[in-house]
Amino acid sequence: MILVTFEGIDGSGKSTQARRLVARLRERGRAVDHFREPGGSELSERIRSLLLDPDLTIHAMSELLLFAAARAQLVEERIRPALAEGKIVVCDRFYDSTTAYQGGGRQIVEWDWVRSFHARVTGGLQPDRTYLIRLDPEEALRRRAGGADADRMERSDSGFYRRVVRAYDRLAEEEPERILCLDGRRGIDDLAGVVWEDLRAVLERSQGTAPSG
Ligand code: ADP
Ligand code: TYD
Repeated sequence: MILVTFEGIDGSGKSTQARRLVARLRERGRAVDHFREPGGSELSERIRSLLLDPDLTIHAMSELLLFAAARAQLVEERIRPALAEGKIVVCDRFYDSTTAYQGGGRQIVEWDWVRSFHARVTGGLQPDRTYLIRLDPEEALRRRAGGADADRMERSDSGFYRRVVRAYDRLAEEEPERILCLDGRRGIDDLAGVVWEDLRAVLERSQGTAPSG
């Protein structure tokens, strides 16, 4: 039915909010599938372990294509069938992560190119609503316990994360009707409340029925 995505830098609070939203929807009897990217299918999870392995050296172009491969598989194998069954799909990261990290952070491809590339990878599937949790990289790093046990991506330097943050902000400016920016410094309950109220309105617009409460 609809595809909802959460975006932001590592440690911004996406997974916490995605979990809260999924739990609340299920409590109200909604059929919801919850995925994370990269991941969510057998192949995509295997690609994930390659991408996050700190012992591997991965060229920036290979990295871009591996994230895309993981997404193409997830879309075909899991997301499209779930949407066709009328489910709500909640995804912790989706193609905006590639725009922000590979396009903005790694700067290996042009902005417009990477944006049009997504349509090929997903066969034109776009998120209906995206929640972008904004938080500065220093605070996000503190929340990640100062980088203890950092995966391959999280070992990127602070300049990389600043470029990722700028790229996310640019995306939000370019697509204000899809992307809702949230201040990640707010409390967990507070943010969950804003997401819930917003999604109720989105569901009402998409099908004329909002979950109660
Ligand atoms: P992400 O999925 O973006 O990496 P997480 O949801 O895993 O982030 O959160 C990272 C850490 O920050 C966790 O320890 C989590 O409990 C904490 N956290 C999440 N949201 C908030 C918030 N709004 N305020 C303070 N701490 C938070
Ligand atoms: P993950 O643990 O899922 O994210 P988080 O740390 O925010 O909870 O790790 C996924 C990592 O991969 C994260 O550093 C962001 C990065 N990534 C990209 O660089 N490009 C992409 O397209 C996606 C989906 C993720």
